[in-house]
Amino acid sequence: MAHGAKAFSGGLEGVAVAETVLSRVDGARGRLIVAGHDIEDLAGRVPFEDVAAALWAGGGEPPSRAAVLRALGAARVEAFALLPQLGDALDREDAMDTLRASVAHLVERGRGTAPAWKGAARVAGAVAVFAAAWARRRANVEPVAPDPSTGHAADVLRMLRGSPAPEAEIRALDAYLVTVVDHGLNASTFAARVVASTGSDLVSAVTAAIGALKGPLHGGAPGPVLDMLDSIPDPEHAREWLQGELDLRRRIMGMGHRVYRVRDPRAAVLEAEVERLRRIFQDGNVDGADGIAPRLALARAVEREATALLAVRYPDRALRANVEFYTAVLLEAVAVPRELFSAMFAVARVVGWTAHVDEERRKGRLIRPTSVYVGPVPQADVDPATRAG
Ligand code: COA
Repeated sequence: MAHGAKAFSGGLEGVAVAETVLSRVDGARGRLIVAGHDIEDLAGRVPFEDVAAALWAGGGEPPSRAAVLRALGAARVEAFALLPQLGDALDREDAMDTLRASVAHLVERGRGTAPAWKGAARVAGAVAVFAAAWARRRANVEPVAPDPSTGHAADVLRMLRGSPAPEAEIRALDAYLVTVVDHGLNASTFAARVVASTGSDLVSAVTAAIGALKGPLHGGAPGPVLDMLDSIPDPEHAREWLQGELDLRRRIMGMGHRVYRVRDPRAAVLEAEVERLRRIFQDGNVDGADGIAPRLALARAVEREATALLAVRYPDRALRANVEFYTAVLLEAVAVPRELFSAMFAVARVVGWTAHVDEERRKGRLIRPTSVYVGPVPQADVDPATRAG
C-alpha cells in the first residue's frame, strides 16, 4: 500500500467522508430517510417547498412554506430575465450542457450575510427556468415566463407547455421532485461537497455537480430507459430483448445500484405515483390516458424479466430496479420530453446539492483523499546500486 494511505476502496465504496443530517440511505434494507422522514411519507404528501425548507434548514428551524414559495418564484423571475444574456448557452445539444453553461452565469450573492437558504433558492429557481427554456427552444417555441405565485412543480410544467397543467400531473411531478431531492453522498453531491470543502462558491459547487450528474451511470439513465421500452414491442418480447443486451455485455438501464442491495425504495414510490395517475386519467377519460396503461404494463414486465435475468447472471449482486426506471415512466406520463430527463433530476437535486454545500461549509474540512501510485519509479529506486554508484 502507498505511503500514508490507510485503506484503499476503488470507487470509494463503503467509505464515509461526511456527517450529514440531510438524508440516510440504507442500502441493505432499501430505506431512504430525508430530513428525518421516510421517503414514502414525503413524496405525494408533503409539497416540494416544505421538503426544500427542511433540507435548507440543515436541522435548524426551517423557513416557512410561503417564504420558500416566494423565494423560488422570485428566483425564477430573476433567471428568466437573464435568458437574453445567455446567448448560445441555451442552445446546446445536450440539456445538461445548457444547464452547466447557464448556471455558470450566476454569481453567488450574500454569502455569509443573507441566510444560506436564500442563496440556495436563487440557484434552484434558476435551474428550473434554464431547463424549461432549453426544452422550449429545442421545440422551436419561445420560453414561457414564470408565474412566481405558483408552486415550483406547477410552474415547471407550465413553463414547459405554455399553459397550466392538470392538478394530477402537478402532484405527480411534485412527488418526483421530492423523491429525488437528496440521496446521501451520491456522485454529484460528493462533487458539490468537494468543491465547497475548498472554500469555493455555491455556483462553482453546483456547476461541478451538474457535470457529475450528466454521466449515464448517475443521472443519465432515464432517457435510455425509455429508449429501451421503445425497443421492446410488447411484454412478451421483454425477456428475449434483455437477454440479447446481456449477451452483448450491455448494461440494462434503470437496473442496479451502488448502494441498494434490494429494490430502490424510490422505484416503488414512483411506480405508485404513475399507477395513481393512470387511475385518475382512466376515470376522468383524459387525453393521454390510453398511453399510460400499456407503458406501465410494459415497464413492469421489463423490470420483472430484467430482475430475473440479472439474478442468474450476477447471483451475488442483487441488481434490482433503481429510481431511474420509473422516473422514465413518470416523466413521460407528465409529458416531459425525454431529452430533458437528466435536467429534471437536477431541478430537484439542486436542493440537495445546495443543502450539502451549506452543511459542508459549516462543519467541513478540505476533502483530499490519497491515491495509490502504481506507475513507474526512478531507476535508482528499482536498483539501489545505481544510486550508490
Ligand atoms: N445491467 C447489466 N449488468 C450490470 C448492471 C446492469 N444494469 N448493473 C451492474 N451490472 C454488472 C456490472 O457490469 C458488473 O459486472 P462485471 O463484474 O462483469 O463487470 C456487476 O454487475 C457488478 O456491478 P455493481 O458493482 O453492482 O455495479 P456498480 O456499483 O459498479 O454500478 C451502477 C452501479 C448503477 C453504475 C450500475 O448498476 C449500472 O450501470 N446501472 C445501469 C445504469 C443506471 O441505471 N444508472 C442509474 C443509477 S441510479
